[in-house]
Amino acid sequence: MDKFVIKGPCKVRGQVSISGSKNSALPLLASTILFDEDVILENIPRVQDCNTMLNLLKSLGKIIKFSKNRRIVKISKAKRPKYFASYSIVKTMRAGILVLGPLVAKYHKSISSFPGGCILNGNSGRPIDLHLSALQKLGMKYSIKNGYIRASSKGKLKGTSIKFPTISVGASQQLIISSVLASGVSLISGLATEPEVKDLTNFLKKAGAKIKWVGKRTCRIIGVKKLKGIRYSVMGDRIETGTFCVAATLTKGKLKIKNFDPKLIQTELKILKKAGAKIKESKNQILIEGPKKIKNIRNIVTKEYGGFPTDLQPIFMVLLCKAEGISTITEKIFQGRFLHVMELQRLGAQISIKNAKAVINGNPNFGIGAEVMSSDLRASAALVLAGLTSKGITTISRVYHLDRGYEQFEKKLKKIGANIKRVSG
Ligand code: EPZ
Repeated sequence: MDKFVIKGPCKVRGQVSISGSKNSALPLLASTILFDEDVILENIPRVQDCNTMLNLLKSLGKIIKFSKNRRIVKISKAKRPKYFASYSIVKTMRAGILVLGPLVAKYHKSISSFPGGCILNGNSGRPIDLHLSALQKLGMKYSIKNGYIRASSKGKLKGTSIKFPTISVGASQQLIISSVLASGVSLISGLATEPEVKDLTNFLKKAGAKIKWVGKRTCRIIGVKKLKGIRYSVMGDRIETGTFCVAATLTKGKLKIKNFDPKLIQTELKILKKAGAKIKESKNQILIEGPKKIKNIRNIVTKEYGGFPTDLQPIFMVLLCKAEGISTITEKIFQGRFLHVMELQRLGAQISIKNAKAVINGNPNFGIGAEVMSSDLRASAALVLAGLTSKGITTISRVYHLDRGYEQFEKKLKKIGANIKRVSG
């Protein structure tokens, strides 16, 4: 298992280019199950979760061809389609569940393993009830046996009105994809409006799907017979962008962050400005410079899009560990998403948690190197940033979590001045 060894403190300076969004690429890839014609996706991030999704599509019979740099992928029709999403592939990734709906929509049957993914909610796990009950309303029948969802439909799924009781990014994507080839009209409300959901509807519309956002959280989808092959470029990764913005702010660095539209992360940029960062936004680019002293921030609350994203919670927590005074972050999406706290404490952080609220007692001298362990994808990135700002050597184990979702993270950091190396074994 690879580790990162960081010699800190380091300052990041220079420019960094943002990769395609993992959380957008995954549903786009899953939706290619609906297509008979070729789909060419550009700007696919070279991260483990995308490899896993592509392997899953291959196991379902799809033909996958990469460009030389593996950033463009062509997905062609399965000669002999299969309907079995195996545990061995799906166990590492939450988005594996996203093939269930498209398989039933296209082939009227599927045997799909329960998905894996980051452990973010302690003992409550990450349920898929919203996915299943919404698909049921479209006419899918299912039973659960030996960890597999055995699902089928009598012919096409049937459009209907569905209102999600709570907002879920994955269940919204699942239902949008599954409704595109359904017969009749679906009116889906209570949808997530994350930019990755909008990227999905843009992609499907370009392929001929009849989808219209008719309210802030409502889509009307008129089923079509088939989708046409297209070429589409995956949007940039807003969480990677946020991570590099924090790296600059935390290390008193200066970065030009390219290939990302700053309009999509206004909430995050506002908080960074409050913390003292100087930020200049232009089209597809952010210039950010860290302050001498980081100001504390009270009352960050994670929320659905428009609000502060849960995926940046661990990363902003590191920033607040180095601020002057007390800060708080309340986690409203995954109430147990605090596994990184214990590891940050090893580096000297003073954080206490009560009822999903973290109180961070900041210290401008935060960070003495130590051995720490990654617990999930974003927690890994948070530990790397903490290592950059800590004095001495920080060793981070289990970085396979990070490889699931950040493209060449340590290489990008090295280029901008971080003293970080990957050690195998
Ligand atoms: C997506 O996960 C992202 N993953 C997550 O990013 C992100 O943290 C999350 O959305 C929230 O923004 C991908 O896009 C692949 P949800 P998802 O369904 O879709 C509850 C990362 O680091 N819920 O919006 O799984 C759930 O427990 C990952 O890149 C149900 O109760 O999240 C949670 O409390 C980690 N039943 C809330 O809804 C369900 O059937 C929101 O989860 C589904 C969800």
